[in-house]
Amino acid sequence: MRSPTFVVSAFSALLLALAVQASPPLSASSEAKSALAVSTQIAAASAAVGDTELDSESDTTPIRGANIGGGVFLIEPFIKPSLFDQFLSRNKADIPVDEWTFTAALGKVEAKRQLEEHWDTFVTRDHLEAMAESGINWIRIPIGYWAFNLTDDEPYVDGQVPYIERVLEWSRDIGLKVELDLHGAPGSQNGYDNSGRRGVPEWLHSRINVDRTLDALAKMTKIAVDWSDVVYGIQILNEPSRWNGVSNC
Ligand SMILES: *[C@@H]1O[C@H](CO)[C@@H](O)[C@H](O)[C@H]1NC(C)=O
Repeated sequence: MRSPTFVVSAFSALLLALAVQASPPLSASSEAKSALAVSTQIAAASAAVGDTELDSESDTTPIRGANIGGGVFLIEPFIKPSLFDQFLSRNKADIPVDEWTFTAALGKVEAKRQLEEHWDTFVTRDHLEAMAESGINWIRIPIGYWAFNLTDDEPYVDGQVPYIERVLEWSRDIGLKVELDLHGAPGSQNGYDNSGRRGVPEWLHSRINVDRTLDALAKMTKIAVDWSDVVYGIQILNEPSRWNGVSNC
């Protein structure tokens, strides 16, 4: 069996790299501390898993992976357009274009009602079984930071984790391995709707964005440890880029 220990320690090194990379515009001592705190948390989590050897040579099964979609726990209009149909009578400028504007338009209570129904129905055990039957053995689950670290002044809603864990449970039963993917970071890491918020990437403009990213990753790591027979990897951040803001980043 491939051990998650390897994945978790590689991840911890990457996290440190991420924190160090983020440091130039920010003050040095606080970030060194928070990177240390997170890496300590991750080291503790990784120790809890134990020191199973990574048996890469005997496991030659090819990875045949598929994404279960930026449409489930982080909505993107092109993946489930029907969620956005309710806004079509609005002026173009007021039509939501991403999860941020979708939740802002509905307010937290109604957004949560609609999204819970979506989380509950968009990906089912039958879908995963069909994927496994057609030869898929890994899936990637994109998740926005707001599932783990949400503030009151943000329109997003949380509550995704039990639905994510249900996918993990189905995956365990069916024999799929899972990669958890942090697909949206605070401030947006790329300015695309796939980060949750379209516009200018503001992610590296403030220390708190980076700290919150590390907090979300630490919580994802905890899930990876709790589900170590199912979760085989963590993608630390999807598509960070500076396309729209070179001079600002
Ligand atoms: C989000 O992360 C920040 C930075 O680590 C932390 O101070 C805050 O308590 C976290 N918020 C939640 C809701 O977990």
